[in-house]
Amino acid sequence: MSAYKFIDHKFDVVVVGAGGSGLRAALGCAQAGLKTACVTKVFPTRSHTVAAQGGISASLGNMSQDDWRWHMFDTVKGSDWLGDQDAIEYLTRNAPAAVYELEHWGVPFSRTADGKIYQRAFGGMTKNFGEGPIQRTCAAADRTGHAMLHTMYGQSLAHDTEFFIEYFALDLIMDDGVCRGVTAWKLDDGTLHRFQAQMVILATGGYGRAYFSATSAHTCTGDGNAMALRAGLPLQDMEFVQFHPTGIYGAGCLITEGARGEGGYLTNSEGERFMERYAPSVKDLAPRDMVSRAMTIEIREGRGVGPNKDHIFLHLDHLDPKILAERLPGISETAKVFAGVDVTKAPIPVLPTVHYNMGGIPTNYHGEVVTKDGDNPDKVIPGLMAVGEAACVSVHGANRLGSNSLIDLVVFGRAAALRCAEIVKPGAKQPELKAEQTEAHLARFDHFRNASGSTGTAELRLEMQKAMQEDAAVFRTGESLDSGVKRLQAVWDKKSDIKVSDRGLVWNTDLMETLEFDNLIGQAVVTVNGAVNRTESRGAHAREDFADRNDTEWMKHTLAWLDNQSGKVKIDYRPVHSYTMSDDIAYIPPKQRVY
Ligand code: FUM
Repeated sequence: MSAYKFIDHKFDVVVVGAGGSGLRAALGCAQAGLKTACVTKVFPTRSHTVAAQGGISASLGNMSQDDWRWHMFDTVKGSDWLGDQDAIEYLTRNAPAAVYELEHWGVPFSRTADGKIYQRAFGGMTKNFGEGPIQRTCAAADRTGHAMLHTMYGQSLAHDTEFFIEYFALDLIMDDGVCRGVTAWKLDDGTLHRFQAQMVILATGGYGRAYFSATSAHTCTGDGNAMALRAGLPLQDMEFVQFHPTGIYGAGCLITEGARGEGGYLTNSEGERFMERYAPSVKDLAPRDMVSRAMTIEIREGRGVGPNKDHIFLHLDHLDPKILAERLPGISETAKVFAGVDVTKAPIPVLPTVHYNMGGIPTNYHGEVVTKDGDNPDKVIPGLMAVGEAACVSVHGANRLGSNSLIDLVVFGRAAALRCAEIVKPGAKQPELKAEQTEAHLARFDHFRNASGSTGTAELRLEMQKAMQEDAAVFRTGESLDSGVKRLQAVWDKKSDIKVSDRGLVWNTDLMETLEFDNLIGQAVVTVNGAVNRTESRGAHAREDFADRNDTEWMKHTLAWLDNQSGKVKIDYRPVHSYTMSDDIAYIPPKQRVY
């Protein structure tokens, strides 16, 4: 591998990814006086956070009385009791301050008549411990992620974060269980880089593109998750994949839950507002797992709309066009472009579409990556943190509530930076890196660059995406998941026959897509293996052959390790944190999720 030469960089902290959590972490580390790099495969304001629409949750109480404890209760219940309650307390009690910080940085939030931040209703957000819907989701029209990302990028530039833009991270530099940095490929000139750091923070997002139809950008290939797997670390709770109820039928583009928050509703072929039957108290504002299941049942039972009765209608046509123009301009345009629908006149055809990964790299609420080591379920991996969708803190458990993602990004991005300020010493001496620590990185890179098999990457990727879409869907059975395991193993095995045509190093998108596919397939494999193993239904993991939640056996986090040669998965467990952070709120014991 001596043909490849690395360009070396040394920092106190290296953040990989420049979405909401990466920018917040990088900004905080730079503010703390740490020499900080942010390495990102896309220009920061193209990170997938830019696509977040409906808003960011926080109990500001601008529309009616609210309390972080109510928000905590809703998040625990929304998670179907798989969320860690210490982390959920941390999230919900720090949420208001995080939103005000964004406001002070300049995020152009929508406003109430008296000038406060406007908040809308979102699924599963309730008042007084479940009594009925509450308006808790702070919004900048339906472009909240866009507003946040641009503001935070501006703020980052005002501090001393050094950006390495369009660098594709390859692998973690591990040294006897300690992370010492990350390698990356600079896409525009083909050079390879070693970023050494006392702390690497993975903020690389989710892996929605393992599925055929997803609201996620094509860049959402879970690169950090895959790097963790290759470093011999486990991923947690990967079987929990969120389907957003309202992706545009056929196109998959997101229509924000904020549409229902503003009064939109779903109907079946009989014109019935069917959510009234499934969730009598909150109706269309039930959590996403429930709405997606209800829609799927309606379609299966022959009450879907359209010539093939295979989707559902979302109505906004009864709402005041002025409100639509002011609060939902983005989705009004998306519906026009991608469904040919004028939302003031006709319903939007929608279908549950893959949207979010509850699973990811296990961390504590400081963002430190943890693993199970013998009897210790919380062993910290020195030098490595994860935040945002890449991480599994776990605040979302088995099902995330809408608008809890944006708040997760900034609360835990900040938490990671605060931890770095405590444990990273500015300019401290770092051990010399050794060539053997990066040999496997180069071998993998070179292998794919020169791959001369007969199967194109796009063909294999499609095979994986179809298997995930069909076999690990809203409803699963042992049979569908077994089929998924077999189909994905077949894809894994065909990797040895992959073909890359471009041998260059400069803007080689053929190679980049192949490396991304290799990242995706590992995560797809652990997802279906985790799903077949979990013989209960909880949150977004709905098993028709095990229809009930089983707290006695399954109130635990799945940990899944991948054998990077064979594609086989090893599974173990971590306990759910059934305790809170402080005495301000007691542990919330499990109950049935009725809305
Ligand atoms: O529906 C939405 O606007 C998405 C929000 C989220 O996933 O939190």
